[in-house]
Amino acid sequence: MPNYRIAAIPGDGIGKEVIAAGLRVLAACAARDGGFDLAVEQFGWGSDYYKAHGEMMPANGSELLKPFDAIYFGAVGAPDVPDHLTLWGLRLSICQPLDQYANVRPTRILPGIASPLRGVTAKDLDWVIVRENSEGEYAGQGGRSHRGLPEEVATEVAIFTRAGVERIMRFAFDLARSRPRKLLTVVTKSNAQRHGMVLWDDIAREVASDYPDVAWDKMLVDAMTVRMTLNPASLDTIVATNLHADILSDLAAALAGSIGIAPTANLNPDRRFPSMFEPIHGSAFDITGKGIANPIGTFWSAVMMLEHLGEAAAAQRLMRAIERVTSDASLHTPDLGGTATTNQVTEAVCAALLGDN
Ligand code: NAI
Ligand code: MG
Repeated sequence: MPNYRIAAIPGDGIGKEVIAAGLRVLAACAARDGGFDLAVEQFGWGSDYYKAHGEMMPANGSELLKPFDAIYFGAVGAPDVPDHLTLWGLRLSICQPLDQYANVRPTRILPGIASPLRGVTAKDLDWVIVRENSEGEYAGQGGRSHRGLPEEVATEVAIFTRAGVERIMRFAFDLARSRPRKLLTVVTKSNAQRHGMVLWDDIAREVASDYPDVAWDKMLVDAMTVRMTLNPASLDTIVATNLHADILSDLAAALAGSIGIAPTANLNPDRRFPSMFEPIHGSAFDITGKGIANPIGTFWSAVMMLEHLGEAAAAQRLMRAIERVTSDASLHTPDLGGTATTNQVTEAVCAALLGDN
């Protein structure tokens, strides 16, 4: 029987609450399935660790994660530590060395949940956003000079490499091909950004010639926000740069009901290193400690983790349990307009799992 090694990194704020909930659900999943075990090791990295040790995780943190089969991550960010230190010190320090270059973000309107868009139901909104996760605007290139002087200057250089763009395009075309509609939208901004984004477009066109069975189109990112809002049914699989997809996926989550529902997988597709699964939301200072964080995004991320581990039946069973719970409005947390607590939702998903035949 496979025994998967899972590294759990709850991080900060509601990350701790939703990962605790997610680990309960995963344990129930393994018990219900009976065909695999999960050996979970917790890592107390994040802003508390930073305050004690001056770094968000040990310098060899990403090395320590390499032997694991998957990483289950909460969120990072604290009100009293600058966001660029927390994000770069933990989340990006894991994604980059483990070459998790494909960030996959499915969005659907789950049963029982209403979109804020008038007249839009589940059949109109079923997307997967693929985010380039290793370079682009978040490559970390740039610097600051003449600090504090009137001539102070800062640069933030976006990096687009042929290898980096080509691999994410191939990943996105493959994913689009695996879905029934075989439809890919390439998001760009090549009217204003005339170097990196034009290379992005050129490579999209080159790669597309290897996928004659996939229909594809190109959208400028600003117009894409309009299309997502006014014509969601015209979209299926979407590929965008690190920055563009970061923004568009928060919009997508809101259009599907709440950011608390949205999952993500940071994949190392060639499986040289472990992949990382996390809700897309942050540490949510405003609701930390209240016990009302929506754990559904974290549970759905566990579904993606089980799929990646090859446990398709368990993944489907967990998704059914999630959908049974979202169907019941009395089990909606406040972000969905309800009054349920994290704990009530977690217990309901565990119960639905055990009751699933
Ligand atoms: P956020 O996602 O933490 O919160 C935005 C809003 O959504 C808040 O009103 C929050 O209460 C609500 N929300 C988020 N998740 C929720 C959930 N599961 N259930 C119910 N409501 C939920 O984004 P914000 O406020 O911009 O950032 C807070 C901190 O999180 C910052 O330090 C930021 O850098 C960090 N962050 C970390 C991310 C990560 O670790 N992947 C992603 C986004 C932000
Ligand atoms: Mg984001």
